[in-house]
Formats: sequence, C-alpha cells, structure tokens
Amino acid sequence: MNLKQMVGIEASKYVKDGMIVGLGTGSTAYYMIEELGRRVKEENLQIVGVPTSIASKKQAEGLGIPVKTIDEVPYVDLTIDGADEIDPDFGGIKGGGAALLFEKIVATYSKKVIWIVDQSKMVPTLGKFPLPIEVIPYGHQQVLKQFSDLGWQPSLRKNAAGEIVVTDCGHYIIDLHLEKIDDTHKLAKQLDTIVGVVEHGLFLDMVHTVIIGTPEGVKTIHA
Ligand code: A5P
Repeated sequence: MNLKQMVGIEASKYVKDGMIVGLGTGSTAYYMIEELGRRVKEENLQIVGVPTSIASKKQAEGLGIPVKTIDEVPYVDLTIDGADEIDPDFGGIKGGGAALLFEKIVATYSKKVIWIVDQSKMVPTLGKFPLPIEVIPYGHQQVLKQFSDLGWQPSLRKNAAGEIVVTDCGHYIIDLHLEKIDDTHKLAKQLDTIVGVVEHGLFLDMVHTVIIGTPEGVKTIHA
C-alpha cells in the first residue's frame, strides 16, 4: 500500500453514518473516495458526499456515493482533502490540481477539516510549491503583469499540450513561484484585494487535523 492510500483509508475512519462529507480532489483524496465507496457498498454506510471538483463528483457517483452540491446541504460535517504543502502553523497551499475554489468554499462551510498527505508535504515554510491563484480570464494579462511587477514570478498554468488550463468554473490559474512566504496572512490579505483574483491557494486557519503518511506508518496531528 502506498502512503497516499494509507492516509486515504485512515481518514475514511472518521466518516460515520449520516454524515455530510466534503470530498476533496487530487491523487490522495482519490484513495479516500475509493475507500468511502467501498464502505458504502460493503458496510451500507449512509452518507452524502459534497464533491470539490467534477473529477471527484464523477468518481463518487461511479462508486455509488450519493452527491449533492454545497448549496443543497445545510452544512458539511467533515471534509477530507489533500494539500500541496503544510507548515508548522497548519497553514497550507492547495490548488495543485486546480480545484482550490470549490475546495475552499466546501472547507469554509465544514465543521471539521482533515488534510491527508504524505510526509513530503510537511515543510518548515510555505512557498517552495508554486502558489496557485485562480483568476478571471478577462484581464488576466494585466493581473500577470501586476504580479510580475510585485516580483512574484508568475506563470499562467498550461497543460502538457500547451493549452491554458481552465478550472471547473471557467477560470485560469496563475502560479506564483515565491520559493518562501515570510508572512502568509499578510500575503493572503494582499491577494484578497486584487481585482480579477477569484481565490488563492493559501488555506490558513482552516484545518483541524492532518493525517501524514510515513514509511513507519500513519501520524495524526491536531491544530
Ligand atoms: C487540488 O486542487 C489540490 O488542492 C489538491 O488537494 C492538492 O493539490 C493535493 O493533491 P495530491 O493529493 O494529488 O498531491
């Protein structure tokens, strides 16, 4: 079993009958959704999933997990999602899979948030992983220029075929190659004020529990 699968299965143990569960996105969340699908089938687990992307929605539906949108539920009991980097203050970078907007909305309306990662994602300082910024297509070149002028080393995300990546909501992603973010809260506030920015991948003060996969086994830490 690989580390991502290990934490995906471990996190699924927090899911109980009757829960409304936020379903994260990415290669680690994939294993958690698979395990929930298995439990729905084999243990008759009764849950409603709130997917954070079209990919997770399709996966959940294929496994027979009933799904609803965030607007069709009163709240979410528990969201389980991956992350790209996590610092010692439980701040995180998310959005490597371009699903940060729905992920942040679902996390915001969740009573509890769990992140599942392999140990390589635990870092002393955020920023080595490029920070994803979701932007409106209209005016994105101006936003790119603004980021560049600020010294943030932006790049417009493209796929392997060289086409601009378009998010589930029809937006673009600009990745900031910052290397090291000294003050995450200050940067988050600054990004919140930039016209054309829909959302950024800094997830601060949002997670309650982190489940880390290590070769020695699973380690769980609480914020
Ligand atoms: C999706 O947009 C992201 O926030 C993912 O949760 C994050 O990139 C982690 O993905 P992996 O589990 O695939 O590394």
